[in-house]
Amino acid sequence: MGFRTIIEPFRIHSVEPLVMTTPEQRRAALADAHHNLFALHSADVLIDLLTDSGTGAMSRDQWAGVQRGDESYAGSPSWFRFLEAVRDLFPFEHVIPTHQGRAAESILFTAVGGDGRIVPNNTHFDTTRANVEYSGATAVDLVIPEGRDSQSLHPFKGNMDLEALDALLTEQRADVVPLVMVTITNNSGGGQPVSLANLHGVRELCDRHGVPLFLDACRFAENAWFIREREEGQGDRDVVDIVREMASLADGMTMSAKKDPLGNIGGWLAMNDDDLAEQCRTLEILTEGFPTYGGLSGRDLEAVAQGLRESVQHDYLRYRIRSTAYLGEALAGAGIPVVQPIGGHAVYLDAGALLDHIPPTDYPGQALAVALYETGGIRGCEIGSVMFGLQPDGTERPAAMELVRLAIPRRTYTQSHIDYVIEVCTQVAERAGELRGYRITSPPRPLRHFTAQFEAVA
Ligand code: F0G
Repeated sequence: MGFRTIIEPFRIHSVEPLVMTTPEQRRAALADAHHNLFALHSADVLIDLLTDSGTGAMSRDQWAGVQRGDESYAGSPSWFRFLEAVRDLFPFEHVIPTHQGRAAESILFTAVGGDGRIVPNNTHFDTTRANVEYSGATAVDLVIPEGRDSQSLHPFKGNMDLEALDALLTEQRADVVPLVMVTITNNSGGGQPVSLANLHGVRELCDRHGVPLFLDACRFAENAWFIREREEGQGDRDVVDIVREMASLADGMTMSAKKDPLGNIGGWLAMNDDDLAEQCRTLEILTEGFPTYGGLSGRDLEAVAQGLRESVQHDYLRYRIRSTAYLGEALAGAGIPVVQPIGGHAVYLDAGALLDHIPPTDYPGQALAVALYETGGIRGCEIGSVMFGLQPDGTERPAAMELVRLAIPRRTYTQSHIDYVIEVCTQVAERAGELRGYRITSPPRPLRHFTAQFEAVA
């Protein structure tokens, strides 16, 4: 429109107070939490960038949907509104609602996983990996090499390595790989998008080898916006068209409606295969509920149905992607190493590079995340060796990168909140050399980052 400033495309209708704390109070809260930020009381957090999952602000029309929610056990109108909204973007034959993404993963991998099976993905998110492994199968990450290089400027760093995928599918017997999964955007790799061309390439390989393709589509709208902005020939398309094309390349999907669909809770599993759907619905009844509500209330179904419509609006996506980049560019401009290019839902600080005096075994990401909280009440999330270092055989291996993710809840914080975050990060970076590492004092557990207790290394 000729203006440089991209404003929040909404005004504020209802506010939540933020409570200021002193550094002493935050140090006490950290001690109580054994320096695990998941153990903090969120009331003690000023700016909560732990996750973009379920933490967004709902719109007026979503709240109106909450009022319309119909709590009939079976066949509620809210279910049919949800189904219609899902199918409008993802026209799969079967849609199986779940209370969140990992419930969809659990059902899917209970059905198709199992001992000896292998599931390739560009990069498994941690719950996806855990569900694959819990079934007895092996999770293999095949992102392109640029996706593992925090400074590569490749526009689609979430892309699948097609050669590696072809080699894996050629080497394995057909029944060993039950499906190929592509995560859009690639959360664990920095919120990086996957191109349409790459999805077409994966589809061709899946066709050639007779293996179905599933999308882990939590951030599908952000991925589609990146395609529109970065991929040749896509710049004039409506995001809705791009989303439908992505869906048309897949045989099914898992979804966490807590991300792009702007819900506080929700998810689904969808597919075209009738037999698989039958099996999954049986599992769903055991674990989630009747197939027209699947662990959700009618009002949740309504909120997600409306959120889906809002998630693909161009003004919203332009603001969403631009405001994340605003944070990332300011931090990079202040000399703080961040994963490039800036992803869709989060900025990833490269703690390994910033705190290169702390070895991976002393968890530089944890040190940085704790310092951000202590200094300014900002809660981020370590994505490094705390999260990924513990191997299934109990040994410890450093993660590929030592990152701290600052995830941006949708439509929740204003530019001045983000300016404050920039200031706090800059202050912490200025005294990076003083930060010390951490050691884990609690016994090893799967998904240990949620529960581990830490103490500072002397
Ligand atoms: N897949 C991806 C790519 C995710 O990012 C998540 C959740 C899930 C699946 C699981 O969905 O939480 O609804 O069960 N990611 C959140 C995060 C937790 O903070 O990135 P869920």
